[in-house]
Amino acid sequence: MSELSSLDNAQPLLVAEGLAKNYGRLAACRDVSFALYPGEVLAIVGESGSGKSTLLQLLSAQLAPSAGHVAYRMRDGVLRDLAELGEAERRFLFRTDWGFVHQDPAQGLRMGVSAGANVGERLMAVGWNHYGRIRDIASTWLERVEIDVGRIDDAPKTYSGGMRQRLQIARNLVTEPRLVFMDEPTGGLDVSVQARLLDLMRNLVSELGLAAIVVTHDLAVARLLSHRVMVMKGGRVIETGLTDQVLDDPREPYTQLLVSSILPP
Ligand SMILES: Nc1ncnc2c1ncn2[C@@H]1O[C@H](COP(=O)(O)OP(=O)(O)OP(=O)(O)O)[C@@H](O)[C@H]1O
Ligand SMILES: [Mg+2]
Repeated sequence: MSELSSLDNAQPLLVAEGLAKNYGRLAACRDVSFALYPGEVLAIVGESGSGKSTLLQLLSAQLAPSAGHVAYRMRDGVLRDLAELGEAERRFLFRTDWGFVHQDPAQGLRMGVSAGANVGERLMAVGWNHYGRIRDIASTWLERVEIDVGRIDDAPKTYSGGMRQRLQIARNLVTEPRLVFMDEPTGGLDVSVQARLLDLMRNLVSELGLAAIVVTHDLAVARLLSHRVMVMKGGRVIETGLTDQVLDDPREPYTQLLVSSILPP
């Protein structure tokens, strides 16, 4: 690693400070602060209703916080408050520098247009206009996510659940984002399909040096993908640490319950 890039990696990519979101009197997320570093994978775990998706939406500028801020290091190296970005900068983040993998592929894909167009569209949005090259790159990405290139002209509505999820990943990664947000990326798939998808995601994340924030109620997903875990309960982060430490030797009684799977999913 060059001196410059190791210096870069010492700087956080995303910083949350005192983040909160209230819905009327309900505190869906309270006082969350942390920093995420380039290439780091953070899992957010906790029971249903603990505020995981709310936090993810706050971190990815899809929801405005009731208090606190999120800052993101833009490609020029400057850390910027997400609330103060202009429209062009927001667009750049949503279309290029960030990826979003939704639990429901229908939210992250255009189900009626071809798989090739689903991947190519993200490139066109950032100015690519050579049809042949876009198609070549789309084919390469289908291969990378283990989709038969012969299916490139088929629409994802004709795909299986696991294929849709892999296509969603290809569509997101084609622009070489630096940060990917995922909300229950393996939820709704059967166990054998989940295992293969997780393996694929793990390889891509490490090959591309991606940073990711993964919401999951499945601790096996956290174990396999993440370096660090944050445990949420009632909108607060109650425990955080290296994944192996938190899952093998949890400090908080609530995390101990979660790990021993006494709590319902
Ligand atoms: N748009 C909204 N309006 C009102 N309350 C909301 C809204 N979105 C979320 N909430 C509430 O905020 C709390 C946290 O919800 P959130 O969706 O973040 O939980 P979660 O941890 O992602 O749960 P799950 O694992 O079931 O997806 C819940 O009590 C939920 O009812
Ligand atoms: Mg959720």
